[in-house]
Amino acid sequence: MKLPKRLETIANLVDNNVNVIDIGCDHGLLDIYLTLNKNNYCIATDINKNALNSAIKNIEKYKLKDKIQTRLSDGFDDIDIKNNTTAIISGMGTNTIISILKKADLSKISNLIIQSNNNLDELRKKIIKLGFYIENEVVIKEKKIFYVVIKFKKGYKKYNQFDYYYGPILKNKNYLDYTNYLLLLNQKIYNNIPKKYVLKKIKIKQKIKKLNKIKRT
Ligand SMILES: C[S@@+](CC[C@H](N)C(=O)[O-])C[C@H]1O[C@@H](n2cnc3c(N)ncnc32)[C@H](O)[C@@H]1O
Repeated sequence: MKLPKRLETIANLVDNNVNVIDIGCDHGLLDIYLTLNKNNYCIATDINKNALNSAIKNIEKYKLKDKIQTRLSDGFDDIDIKNNTTAIISGMGTNTIISILKKADLSKISNLIIQSNNNLDELRKKIIKLGFYIENEVVIKEKKIFYVVIKFKKGYKKYNQFDYYYGPILKNKNYLDYTNYLLLLNQKIYNNIPKKYVLKKIKIKQKIKKLNKIKRT
C-alpha cells in the first residue's frame, strides 16, 4: 500500500517492531502501513465515532483485525500504555496536541512523533518542557503546503529561541525551499508591523538575519 507523502514521512520515523499508539487515526491507513511494513503493534484511536469506524472498515479490508486494536477515545484516556511506546499525533493544531499530552501519563512513552499544523515554536517548547528532546525533524511539501514532522525522545537537551522556531535538527539540514518560505513570511510580518513597535521589528529582523545565515550555509 502507498501512503501520501506526509504520512509516509511519519511512518519512516517510527522504529520497527515497537508498540505504537496513533492518537487521531482517522482512516487508520498509517496503522495499517506500520503493521504491514514495520511490524509495529498499533492501537489506533480517535475521538470521533465516524472516523474510527472508517479505520475499523479499512483494518477489516486488510484483514488486520487481530493485529491492530482500535479505541474510541479522547487522547490517551482509558488507553493501556505499554512500556517503550511510540505515540503519534498528527494533522492537528498545537493547542489540541499539547492539551492531549498534558493530561496523559507519559511515563511509558519513549518516543513522540508529532506533526502539527501550526505554531511549531510553541509545540517544540512545550513538548521539551514535558521531558523530551528532539531526535529528528523532516520537512516535506505536499500540495504546496510545508509539513514538519518531529520525532521527540525522552530526555533533556538545551535549546535556544531560534531552535524552537526553526528546529534544532532542521537548521543543520539543507531545506532551502522551507527557509525561503520562512524568510518571505517574516519579511511580510516585518513590513506589516507599524514603525512605533521598534522592539517587535528588531526581533523579526534578528530572525530574518538567522534565516539568511542558514540559507548561506
Ligand atoms: C485531520 S485528522 C488527521 C488524521 C491523521 N492523524 C493524519 O495525520 O492524517 C485529525 C483527527 O484527529 C481526531 N482528533 C481530534 N482531537 C482528538 C482527541 N482529543 N483525541 C483523539 N482524536 C482526536 C479527529 O477526530 C480526526 O480524525
